[in-house]
Amino acid sequence: MITVIGSINLDLIAKTAQLPKPGETVSGSDFQSAPGGKGANQALAAARAGAEVRMVGAVGNDAFGKEALALLDEGGVDLALVRKADTATGIALITVEASGENVIVVVAGANGMVSQRDVEAAELSGGHLLLQHEIPLATVKTALGAARASGTTSILNIAPWRDEAAELLALADIVIANETEFDLAADKLELGGSDRDERMADFVEKTGRTVIVTLGAEGLRVATPRTRFTVAAYPVKPVDTTGAGDTFCGYLAAGLDMGLELKDACRRAATAASFACLKPGAQPAIPFSAELPA
Ligand code: RIB
Ligand code: NA
Repeated sequence: MITVIGSINLDLIAKTAQLPKPGETVSGSDFQSAPGGKGANQALAAARAGAEVRMVGAVGNDAFGKEALALLDEGGVDLALVRKADTATGIALITVEASGENVIVVVAGANGMVSQRDVEAAELSGGHLLLQHEIPLATVKTALGAARASGTTSILNIAPWRDEAAELLALADIVIANETEFDLAADKLELGGSDRDERMADFVEKTGRTVIVTLGAEGLRVATPRTRFTVAAYPVKPVDTTGAGDTFCGYLAAGLDMGLELKDACRRAATAASFACLKPGAQPAIPFSAELPA
């Protein structure tokens, strides 16, 4: 069983030829609203990968809240621990240009009210816990402690990076970052070494944890206390990379929860993440495991 304690957003997506510069107005096309939020995206990815998943979080008591949960509901994710908070549903304003590059503004809304009480309500008791940085970090910290105390394997995706999160990395069993996030974390943690690989090794040596750094088209790099390895990316021509990182995290958790070795779970997750780049939006682009090459 996978528990995700994290954010639920409604994504408001516009396409433009080129991203506007400050002060500039450009015309867009193909407006789409779609369920998103890193927590919810990862929960859906794990479910589409075939795992049993429950979501812990909050939406507002508004129309966006209902829309934001639609695909999780359809995907069979247990929503019993998603609260209706007395505030607006979290949203993300996403602009994607023709090259596939995007900019995102997130307004936390109800996600900002996910608290220690929600962690307690989850009554963790094994399996895997998946966390990100789109709910209060105090809640993330409580959840990491509860996971440790209950024998639940914790996976922390340090997205989006927040400097105050540095102390949390050593509390997770597995840390997942993209290159930028890892470099920022490494600076903050004053990791030693002359390149990223050495800094990953330094992190593992200091904490005894596992770290996975995703490298986009270059695949990903993994360091654990026992081994280090690289997994190549599944080559695609990206249309919209929104949600690719979340697809990786959800599929990785699902693979591990279903008993795959770390390397095999990483391979499957990397392929799923590439497929998520082939369609616009986050949740609508997450592949089902049956769509992936064996
Ligand atoms: O990782 C992609 C997600 O980040 C989007 O769905 C958006 O909601 C933002 O939270
Ligand atoms: Na996408």
